[in-house]
Amino acid sequence: AWTPGRILDEQVRLVRERIGDERVICGLSGGVDSAVAAALVQRAVGDQLTCVFVDHGLLREGEREQVEQDFVAATGVRLVTVDARERFLSALAGVTDPETKRKIIGREFIRVFEQAAAEVSAAARTDSPDGAGVRFLVQGTLYPDVVESGGGTGTATIKSHHNVGGLPEDLTFELVEPLRTLFKDEVRLLGAELGLPAAIIRRHPFPGPGLGIRIIGEVTADRLATLRAADLVVRQEMTAAGVDDQVWQCPVVLLADVRSVGVQGDGRSYGHPVVLRPVTSEDAMTADWSRLPYDLLARISNRITGEVPEINRVVLDITSKPPGTIEWE
Ligand code: XMP
Repeated sequence: AWTPGRILDEQVRLVRERIGDERVICGLSGGVDSAVAAALVQRAVGDQLTCVFVDHGLLREGEREQVEQDFVAATGVRLVTVDARERFLSALAGVTDPETKRKIIGREFIRVFEQAAAEVSAAARTDSPDGAGVRFLVQGTLYPDVVESGGGTGTATIKSHHNVGGLPEDLTFELVEPLRTLFKDEVRLLGAELGLPAAIIRRHPFPGPGLGIRIIGEVTADRLATLRAADLVVRQEMTAAGVDDQVWQCPVVLLADVRSVGVQGDGRSYGHPVVLRPVTSEDAMTADWSRLPYDLLARISNRITGEVPEINRVVLDITSKPPGTIEWE
């Protein structure tokens, strides 16, 4: 029978057999998938693993700290952080098309990650007796990622998914994907079995391209700051209301090219709307909009329009998937 303990033991054994005494690298995103994959591999091979965290500047408030502090404290994993915020902003300047954004973010991510991996590999060569560099790359790919990216049988690509630790085109690493047959809820059970903190295990899914695909329009530093502030309010209020476990995730989307007239403070405002997209789902393949309590929605709306001057309207997305996808881009 399927128990988290058994799956974990089995995967740890397989990973240990596969990796032997070679070096391995893993990209961390701040999400539960890469965290569980990394913790599992750490359990299997310890310090043969080095994790790399790319800060692409499209993260939410506090996410970098959660990886650098909380995850490292929980696992003792060896971590290298790369600050690539400027690089991603420049690459995204002037770009509004969703697929183009996704491709740019995916491409830049791979370049930055490859460079970091090369450095980790060079360091490994220096301190290993046989001069071997990094041979394996861990990815937190889940079963639904495999299917939606067209890796399953006969399915079309719906969106080009960018997954952290993204696949280099001229693959120089052998892939280790210990979560490839699992769904999200199973991965969370595995994370608990590995002793990861609840804050990491329960974290809602967050896409690899991050806030870059939640700004409808060009991605700029100012818009990122606006969206980050609104998103933080939503997460705080949802947690305070105790509804985190009732929703799959709640993207907050900034309609950066839309303006509407309002009254804010002492006068007329001409600001942007944010969309709340709370959904319930089993596996992200289908979803329904969450019936969040009206008083929670009211608090979120009051706080965002009161605390984020650029935003003067909060709207609720009541579309199921299909026909809507969960993310707007
Ligand atoms: P959609 O918008 O396709 O999203 O209904 C389904 C689920 O996937 C997440 N998502 C991504 N995750 N890289 C990821 O790692 C991506 O490029 C990506 N795009 C969407 C989304 O948040 C939802 O949970």
